[in-house]
Amino acid sequence: MNTLTATPHHGAGIEIRGVDISAADDATFGVVRELFHRHGLVFLRDQRLSEADHIALARRLGTINVNRFFVKNSGHPEIAMVTKEADQRLNIGGFWHTDHSYDREPALGSILVARELPTSGGDTQFLSTYDAFEALPPALQNRLRGMRAVHSAKHAFGTTASRIRRWIDPQARSENTEQADALDTVSHPAVIRHPLSGREALFVNPSFTVRFEGWSMLRSAPLLAEIYARVLLRAPVANFRWEPGSVAIWDNRATWHNAKNDYRGQRREMHRITLDGCALAAA
Ligand code: SIN
Repeated sequence: MNTLTATPHHGAGIEIRGVDISAADDATFGVVRELFHRHGLVFLRDQRLSEADHIALARRLGTINVNRFFVKNSGHPEIAMVTKEADQRLNIGGFWHTDHSYDREPALGSILVARELPTSGGDTQFLSTYDAFEALPPALQNRLRGMRAVHSAKHAFGTTASRIRRWIDPQARSENTEQADALDTVSHPAVIRHPLSGREALFVNPSFTVRFEGWSMLRSAPLLAEIYARVLLRAPVANFRWEPGSVAIWDNRATWHNAKNDYRGQRREMHRITLDGCALAAA
């Protein structure tokens, strides 16, 4: 390939071209890793990653965290299948979220590889949680700095959610629903000091944050709704248009994402690997 170029993507992230990431030498890979750590979101174009290359890429960036609730790739259990069949209505990840925020040590990041794309639609939106924090007024920022928020996966991956999904999409599959039912909730600071960049980032998200610590869900709901409304009104949003060969690598502590579900009647298959993270400290 040619020389690596890195261009800001409209809204958030950096788009990288001119590198074959599966064959990158240490110096080139170091540039990509540095861009990922600094911006929390990089997009690579024109890749030809096999499943084994995808796994090798993940291992170069960290330790693989096998998702418990997604269907696994048949030959490579490290890879979670993010598939929507042509006759399904619901997609996976079709609401703003941060992968694995319901874990005690939330995932560092995720690497998503496009395998089969609809002819139109199916973009993924991203926003930076640094920008999200900056979108809040100073009084709210200060208030949140002293708070912790509780996260859960039960409502998303438990038996009730799975039953509802199957009622809408009979062929929808999820794994370990009883394990999701039995999960403890976890709490994290509502504003974290990002472990790689040292910057303050908002760490609540509309899919997995259920309340503030010490508050009921009822009391938490209006404040969470206010935060999400302010973020979605003011923080820039990147709309990533997938092409064959596209790869997105995001830091789950620095971004939210949302998979658009606007390609009814067409199949979309993506492969995701998630990386181990660490406990998060308050800002
Ligand atoms: C995800 O939420 O991890 C999947 C995003 C996508 O399919 O675009």
